Amino acid sequence: MRVFSGIRPTGQIHIGNYLGAITQWISLQEKEDCIFSIVDWHAIVTPYDEKKLQENIFDLATTYLACGLNPEKCILFVQSQVKEHVELAWLLGSITPLGELKRMTQFKDKSEKHPEYVNTGLLNYPILMAADILLYDANQVPIGQDQKQHLEITRNIAERFNKKYGKTFVIPEPMIMKEGAKIMSLQNPEKKMSKTDDTKGCIGLFDKPEEIKEKIMAATTDSGKEIKYDVINKKGISNLLNIYSIFSHKTIKEIEKEFEGKGYGDFKKALAELLIEKLKDIRKKKSELIKNKEYVYSVLEKGNKGARKIASAKMEKVKKLMGL
Ligand code: TYM
Repeated sequence: MRVFSGIRPTGQIHIGNYLGAITQWISLQEKEDCIFSIVDWHAIVTPYDEKKLQENIFDLATTYLACGLNPEKCILFVQSQVKEHVELAWLLGSITPLGELKRMTQFKDKSEKHPEYVNTGLLNYPILMAADILLYDANQVPIGQDQKQHLEITRNIAERFNKKYGKTFVIPEPMIMKEGAKIMSLQNPEKKMSKTDDTKGCIGLFDKPEEIKEKIMAATTDSGKEIKYDVINKKGISNLLNIYSIFSHKTIKEIEKEFEGKGYGDFKKALAELLIEKLKDIRKKKSELIKNKEYVYSVLEKGNKGARKIASAKMEKVKKLMGL
């Protein structure tokens, strides 16, 4: 089975990215044929600092490795180093109705957030994402809940292409975990955790222990005092329970039992300690990798080559079918 996924290099990644995407990738690389990308072309359609982009790409590469992605077991590469991604995106654009793109929730949200920067790249974003996935004949795409709609449009595009030009693309399936699918902001549990929103609501994977503790202790909780999972009435506590569950590999029921009779303060303290402990090794590994630039770049170079080989062969076929 072929697996493909990616993250935008837009600055420090948070525990939502980690729990929604990367933890799945780590286990998938053991048994599947995995390709993971640093999707830098996707990072330039919202405001960004061009002077920092290369730094962010390097940073995300060290994060991938520090979290446990193993270049002997999967391909790790930078999207912009494989030109076929934009080439295919252009071709897929010719069979994608404008209305479908305009309906995308992320397009609507991001256009509202940055009204001064509504560019056609933002509109075409899902076509580039479809190209990423379809180029590699990926069967499975491990992502968080917020990317599900983009997977649906990818499937539509692939089906439309196959119908028009003959069976060419694999129809990919989203892989969305039950618990980590949507980690919410600690400050506003109605909104997903996001790096661009308030920093207090978002725990960076490399936040210092004091910051983690501070943010968890200040997390919005609900009235009442029981540690109980209830996404309707106790959104804040349910979000924290989810985070605790994935990091501790315990079920929600087990955690509820463990904290029976205890208050929110005790639970938050335990969660902060758990996070600090679990993220310690990742932080240590990353600080070592940062010093070893040559190694990190050699991993990416090898990955770029591997990805190019697959992508160029696929493009040849696609172009031929389209009469190009
Ligand atoms: P991006 O960079 O916004 O996020 C990377 C991954 O993290 C997941 N995620 C979350 N999961 C749980 N809770 C959250 N609060 C949370 N926030 C983010 C996202 O669902 C995603 O899996 N368009 C994509 C990148 C992309 C891609 C692709 C993904 C480009 N091409 C091809 C898969 C396949 C994006 O913006 O992700």
